[in-house]
Amino acid sequence: MIVVRTVADLRAALYPRRTGAVGLVPTMGALHEGHATLLRAARAADDTVVMSLFVNPAQFNEQADLAAYPRTEEADLALAASEGVDIVFAPEAAEMYPAGFATTVSVSGTLADTLEGAERGRSHFDGVATVVTKLLLAALPDHAYFGAKDAQQVAVIRRFVTDLGIPVELVVCPTSRDADGLARSSRNTRLSPDERAQALAIPRALSGIQDAATAGLRDTAALRAQGLAHLEAAGIHPEYVALVDPVTFAPVDEVAQPVLVAIAARVGATRLIDNIVLGGA
Ligand code: PAJ
Repeated sequence: MIVVRTVADLRAALYPRRTGAVGLVPTMGALHEGHATLLRAARAADDTVVMSLFVNPAQFNEQADLAAYPRTEEADLALAASEGVDIVFAPEAAEMYPAGFATTVSVSGTLADTLEGAERGRSHFDGVATVVTKLLLAALPDHAYFGAKDAQQVAVIRRFVTDLGIPVELVVCPTSRDADGLARSSRNTRLSPDERAQALAIPRALSGIQDAATAGLRDTAALRAQGLAHLEAAGIHPEYVALVDPVTFAPVDEVAQPVLVAIAARVGATRLIDNIVLGGA
């Protein structure tokens, strides 16, 4: 495994490997088993696996959050090596944002404005879209791997990849969960044992909604109310419980086609997100 810090070095390392398929797994480091599932999917499908490791300042709306983001490069490189990554692209901020940087990739409308876009501010998805565009242009992969846990991020990326005609196939990997059902996240380590027990109400609320939908409840307002009651009973007051179209993120009234159920909530000081997709008719 080699580690490169510049786009020029990444391109040079990839040049002789272009005869085979290239897979890119973008990350911000602080790697855990959830990231590993993406690396494994890439390793199984592609001849060359590139992992990017870049804590992207542009997608943080709070400086404190950016400063507090865990930086564990040594452990991240060890995990990447053990999963068979060929090339790690770990640039400095100045490599990604050269002096005078003045360009933003911005997805407009409901998709980027709602839910995470509303809670974290418009700049969040602009920051994600801009850096992912740059990573895709730097590596020009055949496949790029993203986690379903960040469903809105996936939908935003799919939108601008389609709109800009970026020649890459997006591969969405299922949410990786701990044995107790909690979606894996680098933030989970911040939960006290009590908070972790409380946080389990999030995946349970989602499976409760899933069960009710499977049993025939189609009215999304009723399904939402059920999930909300489940969370409130556990002492969680969510930022949102939303049932939306998984592509446009427009609200839906009835489970007739696939519906994304997304939850964001703070447990103690830790902000958690999770989601499932209901199958529809
Ligand atoms: P990061 O939070 O490091 O996540 C990197 C990738 O891992 C994302 O595609 C995310 O959805 C996926 N992931 C995280 N936890 C997961 C889980 N439990 N199961 C499955 N996949 C999981 O998301 C980002 O970084 C950044 O926004 C990035 C796309 C790298 C742009 O800066």
